[in-house]
Amino acid sequence: MPAIYLDNAATSFPKPPAVAEAMVRYMMEVGASVNRGVYASAQDAGMTTLLLREGLCRLFGHGDPTHCILTCGNTMGLNMVLRGWRRPGDHCLVSAVEHNAVMRPLQDLAAEGVSFDRIPCDSAGRLDAGAVEGMIRPNTRLLVMAHGSNVSGAVQDAQAVGDVCRRRGVPFVLDAAQTAGHWPIDFEKLGLSALSVPGHKGLMGPSGTGALLLSKDFAGQLGPSSPAAPAAPPTRRSSPPTCPTASSPAPPTCRGSTAFRRRWILSCQKGLRPSGTMRRP
Ligand SMILES: Cc1ncc(COP(=O)(O)O)c(C=O)c1O
Repeated sequence: MPAIYLDNAATSFPKPPAVAEAMVRYMMEVGASVNRGVYASAQDAGMTTLLLREGLCRLFGHGDPTHCILTCGNTMGLNMVLRGWRRPGDHCLVSAVEHNAVMRPLQDLAAEGVSFDRIPCDSAGRLDAGAVEGMIRPNTRLLVMAHGSNVSGAVQDAQAVGDVCRRRGVPFVLDAAQTAGHWPIDFEKLGLSALSVPGHKGLMGPSGTGALLLSKDFAGQLGPSSPAAPAAPPTRRSSPPTCPTASSPAPPTCRGSTAFRRRWILSCQKGLRPSGTMRRP
């Protein structure tokens, strides 16, 4: 019996042939780093990246590709926002059904003097937009909300929440992990300060991809961040202290390439050239 893949909320599968073709073309015909050279293939890689950022801005109603950052996934984008935003004494509002990608960095930041409150949701997981206004404090400097829940599938009324944030001057961050590519999202209309999207779910891109779109004002308020996105048991409340062993960036590809490199190194060890340089087997 053919297997049926049911884990599309984690990462979509299969990817469209055009995605695989573009990756093969890059690996076999381009190969260069972006913005690290002026030779033809480096310019080709740079142009592809620019077109991608422009395309993301068009898709999400954002007018400035210079404020579209390519990330390794949604967890990285959300960490960049939260860790770059942190300032002791500040207060953050989140929905009661946030993903660990938001709750873990927030738990970490609580140790640095940042506080947060959860906006209640009903039994179907829908956020009470009417409660937002009353929960904003004088020191509330951020509201982060998952647009669609990875648990219940509930999609929040982002416009209602965005309208309150705009009126009260609170930056609004939308985690569109489960809606980007499935649901219309207009950055300007929703009054967003930041929109974090994965590339590898509804946008059908490869694992280890995502984007963070920022308003110019909000970008100016962010400090440096240290993106930490390690995989850990879902019951863990704060970020694991160790380096990731299996985070999002394409482990299957890495596994293939490390096996290739190991074979290469082993055969080189057997046949070192007199000069000491290694010969490709
Ligand atoms: C609501 C939500 N936020 C954040 C994430 C993290 O996204 P990523 O896997 O791209 O790091 C997920 C992943 O399932 C999610 O469902």
